[in-house]
Amino acid sequence: VIPADPPLVAQAARAWRFRCGVEREAEARFARLAGWLARAGLPGPLVELCRRSSADEGRHARLCAELTERHGGEVPAPPVEPPAVLAPAGLPPRAVLLYEAVAACCVTETGSVGVLTALLGAVRGGSLRRALRTLAADEVRHSRLGWAILAAERERGTGALLGEHVPAMLAASIEPDLFRPGVPGPELDAGEDPALLELGVLPRSLRREVFVRTTTEVVLPGLEEGGVDISPARAWLRERLVAPGPGKSE
Ligand SMILES: [Fe+2]
Ligand SMILES: [Fe+2]
Repeated sequence: VIPADPPLVAQAARAWRFRCGVEREAEARFARLAGWLARAGLPGPLVELCRRSSADEGRHARLCAELTERHGGEVPAPPVEPPAVLAPAGLPPRAVLLYEAVAACCVTETGSVGVLTALLGAVRGGSLRRALRTLAADEVRHSRLGWAILAAERERGTGALLGEHVPAMLAASIEPDLFRPGVPGPELDAGEDPALLELGVLPRSLRREVFVRTTTEVVLPGLEEGGVDISPARAWLRERLVAPGPGKSE
């Protein structure tokens, strides 16, 4: 049952629509990554898991499309272009592959698991809870895929090339204004409303909290374990935790 508060429902529709696009992009990204893994000679089970992840994301996109429509939103058009390669230009091919896996799985998928776990703690029942459980179970596997690829590359030392890029990966996994102080406006106010939880959307302050916790407790220790220097990421996060003054954007 969807509450009648139109700004909240519209906010939820936007959130599910956005997720639908993210899932579609992930579907294409995992399909491409599976090919890269196979060509680089990574273990077959990892290639298989990556292909399966792509299929999972296709299902997630359909699920998110349904939820978008249920909230009165319009499903986005399917992407026509392949997703942009995540690594900046100039890295060797092996590091481009690892960058993609670390950014998409270790950072983004682990972040999604954090968000979904928080939502599951708040959404009481019904089809929304079932949808969130499906998403959470799959995203946990996708996150593990990244950690397994990082471990498989440990001996080669490829992870050492990624340390300075982890801040960019973290920044790309959140909305640009997550750490900016709220500015008054109907949209942001709706984005802060705790009633959003019932619609499967984390209010901003909670998203911030979940992101910081997931990053410090799971992502950064895991990356360090995989041979990635996490001091640039720690510095990046520290800067964000110092309450920024109004107007300070970066
Ligand atoms: Fe997904
Ligand atoms: Fe995923």
